[in-house]
Amino acid sequence: MGKAIGVFDSGVGGLTVVKELIRQLPAEDIIYFGDTARVPYGIKSKETVIRFSIENILFLLKQEVKLICIACNTVSSVALPIIQNHFKVPMVGVLESGVREAVYATRNKRIGVIGTRGTIKSRAYEIQIKQLDPQVKVTAAACPLFVPFVEEGWLSGRPVLEVAQSYLKPIKKAGVDTVILGCTHYPLLKPVIREVLGKKVTLIDSAKQVAMEVKNILAQEGLLNKGRRGKQRFYVSDNPEWFSGLAKRFLGRPVRGKKSGAE
Ligand code: DGL
Repeated sequence: MGKAIGVFDSGVGGLTVVKELIRQLPAEDIIYFGDTARVPYGIKSKETVIRFSIENILFLLKQEVKLICIACNTVSSVALPIIQNHFKVPMVGVLESGVREAVYATRNKRIGVIGTRGTIKSRAYEIQIKQLDPQVKVTAAACPLFVPFVEEGWLSGRPVLEVAQSYLKPIKKAGVDTVILGCTHYPLLKPVIREVLGKKVTLIDSAKQVAMEVKNILAQEGLLNKGRRGKQRFYVSDNPEWFSGLAKRFLGRPVRGKKSGAE
C-alpha cells in the first residue's frame, strides 16, 4: 500500500463515501476507520464529537495517510470547522460540496436539510448555504430514527414510511425543491424520502461530490495515483462482525472490518 486516503465515520455509514471514492479514484488506496465502539455521534455533545474526531484523525495519521476525508455529516458540521486548522494534512468534509450542489440545483431558492440532531442543531448547513446565497430559505429537520432504521435493514415498508412522513412534514410544507440528505445513512432511504416528497424534489447525496473534491485536491497537490489498482483496509473500534455484516448494504459488497489497535 502506498500513501492512502484516510476516511473516517462514526460507524458504518461512511462506506457510502468509500463506494464513490473507489468508483472515481480506482487507483487510490483507502484506509477507513469506523468508530463502532462509540456510534452514534448524532446525539452526542459538541465537545464529545470534537474529542472523538481528534482521536480518529490521530489514528489515521499513524497510518500515514495523504488526505483525510471526513465522511460523517455530524463531524463535518460540529467539529471540522474547529479542528481543521490544527492539522497539516488536507481534510475534506461532506458539507461544502453538498451545499454547493444544492444551491446550484434549486430553482425556487428553497432548500431542505435533513440530518442527525447534532448536525441540525449546529446549523452548519444553513450557515454555509446562506454564505453562498443569502436569498435561499432553508428549512431543516432532524430525523434521528432514520439511522437505526437503516442499520436494522428497514429501508421500506409502513413503519419507515410513516416516520418519514412525520419528520418530513415541515420540509414538505415549506415547498422546497431541493433537499440535502445530510447524513451518511440517508441515501439508502432515498426511495422512501422520494415517495414522501414527490418526484419533483431534487435529493442531494453529497458522497459523489465529496469524491470529486478529493480528486481535485489530490490532483492540485500532485498526489494522484495512476495506472494501478487501489487497495482498501477497514478498521473499527469495536464489533468487526457487526460492521462486516452491515458493510454490504452500504458498499455494495462485503468487507471484513479489523479491530483497530489489534493490527
Ligand atoms: N455518520 C453519522 C452522520 O452522518 C450518522 C450516524 C451517527 O449518528 O453517528 O451524521
